[in-house]
Amino acid sequence: MLNRATPPEPNSWDVSEEYKRFPERGHLGGIVVVIGAPGSGKTTIARKLASNIGCSYLNVGSLARERGYILGIDRERDSLILDEELIVDEIRRLAHEKCLVVETIAPNTIPRELVRAVIVVRCRPSVLLERLKSRKYSLSKIRENIEYEAIDGPVYDALLIADRERIVEVDGCDKEVENEIEVILDLLRGKITGRIGKFNWSKDFMEILDALSQDGQ
Ligand SMILES: Nc1ncnc2c1ncn2[C@@H]1O[C@H](COP(=O)(O)OP(=O)(O)OP(=O)(O)O)[C@@H](O)[C@H]1O
Ligand SMILES: [Mg+2]
Repeated sequence: MLNRATPPEPNSWDVSEEYKRFPERGHLGGIVVVIGAPGSGKTTIARKLASNIGCSYLNVGSLARERGYILGIDRERDSLILDEELIVDEIRRLAHEKCLVVETIAPNTIPRELVRAVIVVRCRPSVLLERLKSRKYSLSKIRENIEYEAIDGPVYDALLIADRERIVEVDGCDKEVENEIEVILDLLRGKITGRIGKFNWSKDFMEILDALSQDGQ
């Protein structure tokens, strides 16, 4: 029989215990969204977090490709145009079956009312540059993504789906991923409230711009 006890107040809620005890109530706890620039380290953090709190990892890009939730291709930006409405519906359905850690680069794919917390994975532009170069992205795609990171684009996108109290930024360049997971768990357990504005990439970004123009790219 389902336990119909009222869910705990957000600030006393231990996501890990709660999800382990009542996996079928994942939807009541809400989903944890992991957002950030391409290559910032979302999958690395999201998978570890999901296994840590006993939730399923869901990648919106993979879901869209597997289910065909794609409206077309944006050739100029070399990216897929996602069918956001269908994806939102699907995530809503899945979130009622199990608890989810959802990786996305597109805030409009997330059902806002189910958002428990948003993890913004940040990555120093110079590191991101190397990661994206190794993927053989076009220069315009690399620039677009580095600019997005440099101007705090992922934070603004996070604010589209949650209040700042539910948002935490973590470092996707940190080799000690466990440290970042601890910060996330602190947020989910209500030990800290969200914090944004932790990273300032201006200096690093200027250096990247120089490097790009010196390459003649
Ligand atoms: N904390 C870290 N320390 C060192 N390298 C990392 C770290 N996190 C991720 N990486 C490396 O950076 C690359 C991108 O990581 P990851 O796939 O997690 O990023 P992503 O944001 O999920 O990318 P995508 O846009 O493809 O979804 C991988 O090669 C990964 O091994
Ligand atoms: Mg990924």
